[in-house]
Amino acid sequence: MLVHAIPSNVSYDFGADVRDGLTCSGQKELPSKYLYDEVGSALFEVICRLPQYGLTRADERLLRRHADEIVDRLRGPVAVAELGSGSGKKTRWLLEALCRRQRTSYYPVEISRSALVMCERELSDIDSISIVGFEREYLDGLLEVASYRKSGQRLFVLFLGSTIGNFDRPAGVKFLSAVRSVLQPGDSLLLGADLEKSTAQLLEAYDDELGVTAAFNLNLLARTNRELGADFDLRQFAHLAKINPIARSVEMYLQSKQRQTVNIPAAEISVEFEEGETIWTESSHKYSAKEIVATAREGGFRCECQWIDQQWPFSENLLIAE
Ligand code: AVJ
Repeated sequence: MLVHAIPSNVSYDFGADVRDGLTCSGQKELPSKYLYDEVGSALFEVICRLPQYGLTRADERLLRRHADEIVDRLRGPVAVAELGSGSGKKTRWLLEALCRRQRTSYYPVEISRSALVMCERELSDIDSISIVGFEREYLDGLLEVASYRKSGQRLFVLFLGSTIGNFDRPAGVKFLSAVRSVLQPGDSLLLGADLEKSTAQLLEAYDDELGVTAAFNLNLLARTNRELGADFDLRQFAHLAKINPIARSVEMYLQSKQRQTVNIPAAEISVEFEEGETIWTESSHKYSAKEIVATAREGGFRCECQWIDQQWPFSENLLIAE
Protein backbone atom coordinates (compact mmCIF):
# COMPACT_ATOMS: atom_id res chain seq x y z
CA MET A 1 0.00 0.00 0.00
CA LEU A 2 1.36 3.36 -0.93
CA VAL A 3 0.55 6.93 -0.16
CA HIS A 4 2.20 9.34 -2.54
CA ALA A 5 2.68 12.52 -0.64
CA ILE A 6 5.91 14.35 -1.14
CA PRO A 7 5.59 17.79 0.35
CA SER A 8 8.25 19.93 -1.25
CA ASN A 9 8.65 23.10 0.79
CA VAL A 10 12.32 22.58 1.39
CA SER A 11 14.12 24.63 4.00
CA TYR A 12 17.54 24.98 2.38
CA ASP A 13 18.93 27.52 -0.06
CA PHE A 14 21.58 26.12 -2.43
CA GLY A 15 22.59 29.53 -3.81
CA ALA A 16 23.07 31.08 -0.37
CA ASP A 17 25.04 28.07 0.88
CA VAL A 18 27.29 28.14 -2.20
CA ARG A 19 27.89 31.87 -1.71
CA ASP A 20 28.71 31.44 1.99
CA GLY A 21 30.95 28.42 1.37
CA LEU A 22 32.98 29.92 -1.45
CA THR A 23 33.35 33.49 -0.19
CA CYS A 24 34.36 32.74 3.41
CA SER A 25 37.96 33.49 4.36
CA GLY A 26 40.12 30.39 4.76
CA GLN A 27 39.11 26.90 3.57
CA LYS A 28 36.44 27.06 0.86
CA GLU A 29 33.65 24.52 1.27
CA LEU A 30 30.45 23.19 -0.23
CA PRO A 31 28.07 21.27 2.07
CA SER A 32 28.00 17.52 1.39
CA LYS A 33 24.21 17.38 1.45
CA TYR A 34 24.21 18.95 -2.03
CA LEU A 35 26.05 15.93 -3.50
CA TYR A 36 22.70 14.17 -3.89
CA ASP A 37 20.83 15.65 -6.82
CA GLU A 38 19.52 13.24 -9.47
CA VAL A 39 22.95 12.58 -10.99
CA GLY A 40 24.67 12.48 -7.60
CA SER A 41 22.14 10.04 -6.13
CA ALA A 42 22.60 7.75 -9.13
CA LEU A 43 26.40 7.94 -8.82
CA PHE A 44 26.15 7.14 -5.12
CA GLU A 45 24.18 4.00 -5.99
CA VAL A 46 27.11 2.97 -8.20
CA ILE A 47 29.63 3.72 -5.41
CA CYS A 48 27.68 1.30 -3.20
CA ARG A 49 28.34 -1.47 -5.74
CA LEU A 50 32.08 -0.86 -6.03
CA PRO A 51 34.12 -3.76 -4.61
CA GLN A 52 36.32 -1.22 -2.78
CA TYR A 53 33.39 0.48 -1.00
CA GLY A 54 32.18 -2.20 1.40
CA LEU A 55 30.22 0.12 3.68
CA THR A 56 26.74 -0.21 2.21
CA ARG A 57 26.99 -3.97 1.75
CA ALA A 58 28.10 -4.36 5.39
CA ASP A 59 25.15 -2.24 6.52
CA GLU A 60 22.76 -4.31 4.44
CA ARG A 61 24.24 -7.65 5.60
CA LEU A 62 23.73 -6.66 9.23
CA LEU A 63 20.18 -5.48 8.65
CA ARG A 64 19.24 -8.61 6.72
CA ARG A 65 20.85 -10.95 9.23
CA HIS A 66 19.46 -9.31 12.35
CA ALA A 67 16.17 -7.75 11.21
CA ASP A 68 13.99 -10.05 13.32
CA GLU A 69 16.08 -9.59 16.43
CA ILE A 70 16.18 -5.81 16.00
CA VAL A 71 12.43 -5.59 15.55
CA ASP A 72 11.76 -7.92 18.50
CA ARG A 73 13.72 -5.60 20.76
CA LEU A 74 11.37 -2.68 20.04
CA ARG A 75 8.66 -2.44 22.60
CA GLY A 76 5.13 -1.87 21.37
CA PRO A 77 3.76 -0.77 18.02
CA VAL A 78 6.00 1.67 16.19
CA ALA A 79 5.95 4.15 13.34
CA VAL A 80 9.19 4.25 11.38
CA ALA A 81 11.00 7.45 10.38
CA GLU A 82 14.13 7.11 8.28
CA LEU A 83 16.58 10.02 8.10
CA GLY A 84 18.18 9.87 4.66
CA SER A 85 16.51 6.82 3.19
CA GLY A 86 18.48 6.88 -0.05
CA SER A 87 17.17 4.20 -2.39
CA GLY A 88 15.55 2.38 0.55
CA LYS A 89 17.04 -0.92 -0.54
CA LYS A 90 18.61 -1.93 2.75
CA THR A 91 15.57 -0.83 4.74
CA ARG A 92 13.48 -3.57 3.14
CA TRP A 93 14.64 -6.22 5.63
CA LEU A 94 13.59 -4.21 8.66
CA LEU A 95 10.28 -3.15 7.16
CA GLU A 96 9.41 -6.70 6.11
CA ALA A 97 10.18 -7.98 9.61
CA LEU A 98 8.02 -5.22 11.12
CA CYS A 99 5.17 -5.66 8.66
CA ARG A 100 4.95 -9.35 9.57
CA ARG A 101 4.06 -8.16 13.09
CA GLN A 102 2.03 -4.97 12.56
CA ARG A 103 0.69 -2.60 9.93
CA THR A 104 3.52 -0.14 9.52
CA SER A 105 3.69 3.52 8.61
CA TYR A 106 7.06 4.34 7.08
CA TYR A 107 8.15 7.97 6.75
CA PRO A 108 11.37 8.44 4.76
CA VAL A 109 12.88 11.91 5.24
CA GLU A 110 15.15 12.93 2.38
CA ILE A 111 16.65 16.12 1.05
CA SER A 112 16.95 14.39 -2.33
CA ARG A 113 13.69 14.15 -4.22
CA SER A 114 15.05 11.58 -6.64
CA ALA A 115 16.18 9.34 -3.74
CA LEU A 116 12.68 9.66 -2.28
CA VAL A 117 11.10 8.59 -5.54
CA MET A 118 13.50 5.61 -5.80
CA CYS A 119 12.72 4.65 -2.23
CA GLU A 120 8.94 4.71 -2.67
CA ARG A 121 9.27 2.62 -5.82
CA GLU A 122 11.60 0.15 -4.11
CA LEU A 123 9.47 -0.55 -1.02
CA SER A 124 5.85 -0.07 -2.02
CA ASP A 125 5.32 -3.79 -2.73
CA ILE A 126 5.68 -4.74 0.95
CA ASP A 127 2.42 -6.00 2.47
CA SER A 128 0.82 -3.89 5.21
CA ILE A 129 2.99 -0.84 4.65
CA SER A 130 2.02 2.76 4.11
CA ILE A 131 4.72 5.12 2.87
CA VAL A 132 4.67 8.89 3.15
CA GLY A 133 7.87 10.60 2.07
CA PHE A 134 9.09 14.00 3.23
CA GLU A 135 11.41 16.09 1.11
CA ARG A 136 12.99 17.80 4.08
CA GLU A 137 16.14 18.18 6.08
CA TYR A 138 16.41 15.56 8.80
CA LEU A 139 15.27 17.42 11.89
CA ASP A 140 12.49 19.35 10.14
CA GLY A 141 11.20 16.09 8.71
CA LEU A 142 11.48 14.24 12.00
CA LEU A 143 9.51 16.94 13.83
CA GLU A 144 6.77 16.62 11.26
CA VAL A 145 6.71 12.82 11.52
CA ALA A 146 6.54 13.08 15.32
CA SER A 147 3.42 15.21 14.96
CA TYR A 148 1.75 12.27 13.16
CA ARG A 149 2.43 9.92 16.07
CA LYS A 150 -0.69 8.20 17.37
CA SER A 151 -1.16 7.71 21.10
CA GLY A 152 0.51 4.55 22.38
CA GLN A 153 2.72 4.44 19.31
CA ARG A 154 6.48 4.55 19.61
CA LEU A 155 8.82 6.10 17.10
CA PHE A 156 11.53 3.96 15.57
CA VAL A 157 14.05 6.25 13.86
CA LEU A 158 16.53 4.86 11.34
CA PHE A 159 19.79 6.68 10.70
CA LEU A 160 21.70 4.16 8.61
CA GLY A 161 24.60 4.07 6.21
CA SER A 162 26.98 5.96 8.52
CA THR A 163 25.59 9.35 7.56
CA ILE A 164 26.48 10.26 11.17
CA GLY A 165 30.08 10.19 9.90
CA ASN A 166 29.47 13.35 7.88
CA PHE A 167 29.34 15.28 11.18
CA ASP A 168 32.50 15.88 13.16
CA ARG A 169 32.38 14.20 16.58
CA PRO A 170 30.95 17.12 18.60
CA ALA A 171 28.36 17.82 15.90
CA GLY A 172 27.46 14.11 15.91
CA VAL A 173 26.63 14.29 19.62
CA LYS A 174 24.67 17.50 19.04
CA PHE A 175 22.70 15.85 16.26
CA LEU A 176 21.86 12.81 18.40
CA SER A 177 20.72 15.16 21.19
CA ALA A 178 18.54 17.04 18.73
CA VAL A 179 16.97 13.76 17.57
CA ARG A 180 16.54 12.75 21.22
CA SER A 181 14.71 16.00 21.98
CA VAL A 182 12.02 15.09 19.45
CA LEU A 183 11.62 11.60 20.94
CA GLN A 184 9.97 10.26 24.07
CA PRO A 185 11.60 7.89 26.54
CA GLY A 186 11.39 4.35 25.16
CA ASP A 187 11.47 5.45 21.51
CA SER A 188 14.39 4.01 19.59
CA LEU A 189 17.05 4.96 17.08
CA LEU A 190 18.89 2.46 14.91
CA LEU A 191 22.24 4.00 14.12
CA GLY A 192 24.54 2.55 11.45
CA ALA A 193 28.13 3.71 11.88
CA ASP A 194 31.24 2.77 9.94
CA LEU A 195 34.22 1.65 12.04
CA GLU A 196 37.91 2.50 11.75
CA LYS A 197 39.96 0.67 9.16
CA SER A 198 43.33 0.93 7.45
CA THR A 199 44.40 4.00 5.52
CA ALA A 200 44.91 1.91 2.39
CA GLN A 201 41.42 0.47 2.58
CA LEU A 202 39.85 3.87 3.14
CA LEU A 203 41.73 5.52 0.30
CA GLU A 204 40.67 2.78 -2.11
CA ALA A 205 37.08 3.19 -0.97
CA TYR A 206 37.02 6.99 -1.33
CA ASP A 207 39.27 7.34 -4.36
CA ASP A 208 38.32 4.32 -6.46
CA GLU A 209 40.35 3.60 -9.56
CA LEU A 210 37.28 3.68 -11.78
CA GLY A 211 36.71 7.31 -10.86
CA VAL A 212 33.10 6.95 -9.71
CA THR A 213 33.75 8.75 -6.43
CA ALA A 214 35.62 11.43 -8.38
CA ALA A 215 32.56 11.87 -10.61
CA PHE A 216 30.28 11.94 -7.56
CA ASN A 217 32.40 14.72 -6.06
CA LEU A 218 32.83 16.71 -9.31
CA ASN A 219 29.08 16.55 -9.88
CA LEU A 220 28.77 19.15 -7.13
CA LEU A 221 30.40 21.64 -9.52
CA ALA A 222 28.27 20.38 -12.41
CA ARG A 223 25.19 20.90 -10.25
CA THR A 224 26.32 24.45 -9.49
CA ASN A 225 26.64 25.02 -13.23
CA ARG A 226 23.19 23.55 -13.90
CA GLU A 227 21.28 25.19 -11.09
CA LEU A 228 23.11 28.46 -10.53
CA GLY A 229 24.39 29.14 -14.04
CA ALA A 230 28.03 28.87 -12.91
CA ASP A 231 30.90 28.36 -15.35
CA PHE A 232 33.04 25.79 -13.51
CA ASP A 233 35.29 23.99 -16.00
CA LEU A 234 35.16 20.49 -14.51
CA ARG A 235 38.37 19.50 -16.28
CA GLN A 236 40.22 22.12 -14.27
CA PHE A 237 39.34 20.50 -10.93
CA ALA A 238 40.46 17.16 -9.48
CA HIS A 239 38.96 14.86 -6.86
CA LEU A 240 41.14 14.53 -3.77
CA ALA A 241 40.63 12.10 -0.87
CA LYS A 242 42.73 12.58 2.26
CA ILE A 243 42.95 10.79 5.59
CA ASN A 244 42.78 13.06 8.62
CA PRO A 245 44.42 10.94 11.35
CA ILE A 246 43.57 13.42 14.11
CA ALA A 247 39.87 13.65 13.27
CA ARG A 248 39.91 9.95 12.22
CA SER A 249 38.08 10.78 9.04
CA VAL A 250 38.35 10.61 5.28
CA GLU A 251 38.03 14.05 3.71
CA MET A 252 37.01 14.78 0.14
CA TYR A 253 38.09 17.92 -1.68
CA LEU A 254 37.90 19.40 -5.17
CA GLN A 255 41.29 20.80 -6.08
CA SER A 256 41.83 23.56 -8.61
CA LYS A 257 44.44 22.51 -11.18
CA GLN A 258 45.33 26.09 -12.03
CA ARG A 259 44.74 29.69 -11.06
CA GLN A 260 41.22 30.52 -12.28
CA THR A 261 38.11 32.61 -11.76
CA VAL A 262 34.63 31.11 -11.71
CA ASN A 263 31.42 33.11 -12.08
CA ILE A 264 28.26 32.01 -10.29
CA PRO A 265 25.51 34.38 -11.47
CA ALA A 266 22.61 33.09 -9.38
CA ALA A 267 24.75 33.42 -6.23
CA GLU A 268 25.91 36.86 -7.44
CA ILE A 269 29.58 36.06 -6.95
CA SER A 270 32.75 35.35 -8.82
CA VAL A 271 35.36 33.27 -7.07
CA GLU A 272 39.14 33.18 -7.50
CA PHE A 273 41.05 29.93 -7.09
CA GLU A 274 44.81 29.62 -6.68
CA GLU A 275 46.59 26.70 -8.31
CA GLY A 276 46.23 23.76 -5.89
CA GLU A 277 43.54 25.46 -3.80
CA THR A 278 40.82 23.14 -2.51
CA ILE A 279 37.10 23.15 -1.80
CA TRP A 280 36.22 20.85 1.10
CA THR A 281 33.11 18.84 0.18
CA GLU A 282 32.76 16.02 2.72
CA SER A 283 34.22 14.33 5.77
CA SER A 284 33.42 10.74 6.76
CA HIS A 285 34.36 10.11 10.37
CA LYS A 286 35.15 6.59 11.49
CA TYR A 287 34.32 5.35 14.96
CA SER A 288 35.37 2.61 17.34
CA ALA A 289 32.58 0.32 18.52
CA LYS A 290 32.97 1.52 22.14
CA GLU A 291 32.98 5.15 21.11
CA ILE A 292 29.54 4.79 19.52
CA VAL A 293 28.11 3.63 22.83
CA ALA A 294 29.66 6.62 24.64
CA THR A 295 28.50 9.03 21.91
CA ALA A 296 24.98 7.66 22.15
CA ARG A 297 25.00 8.11 25.91
CA GLU A 298 26.11 11.73 25.56
CA GLY A 299 23.22 12.24 23.17
CA GLY A 300 20.68 10.88 25.67
CA PHE A 301 20.43 7.28 24.50
CA ARG A 302 21.27 3.91 26.02
CA CYS A 303 22.76 1.30 23.70
CA GLU A 304 20.46 -1.71 23.87
CA CYS A 305 22.44 -3.82 21.45
CA GLN A 306 25.29 -3.54 18.96
CA TRP A 307 25.93 -5.74 15.91
CA ILE A 308 29.24 -5.70 14.04
CA ASP A 309 30.07 -6.97 10.56
CA GLN A 310 33.33 -8.89 10.46
CA GLN A 311 33.93 -8.65 6.73
CA TRP A 312 33.88 -4.82 6.62
CA PRO A 313 34.00 -3.41 10.16
CA PHE A 314 30.68 -1.62 10.52
CA SER A 315 28.27 -1.33 13.42
CA GLU A 316 24.51 -1.34 13.77
CA ASN A 317 23.47 0.19 17.12
CA LEU A 318 20.01 -0.03 18.62
CA LEU A 319 19.71 3.00 20.89
CA ILE A 320 16.85 3.63 23.30
CA ALA A 321 15.86 7.16 24.31
CA GLU A 322 16.26 7.56 28.08
C1 AVJ B 1 26.58 8.16 2.48
C2 AVJ B 1 27.74 9.75 3.77
C3 AVJ B 1 27.90 7.46 4.32
O1 AVJ B 1 30.61 9.10 3.79
O2 AVJ B 1 30.93 7.09 3.06
C4 AVJ B 1 30.66 7.75 -0.35
C5 AVJ B 1 29.11 9.16 1.16
N1 AVJ B 1 31.22 9.78 0.00
N2 AVJ B 1 31.81 7.98 -1.01
C6 AVJ B 1 30.29 8.14 3.10
C7 AVJ B 1 30.31 8.89 0.29
C8 AVJ B 1 32.15 9.21 -0.81
C9 AVJ B 1 28.99 8.20 2.30
N3 AVJ B 1 27.80 8.42 3.20
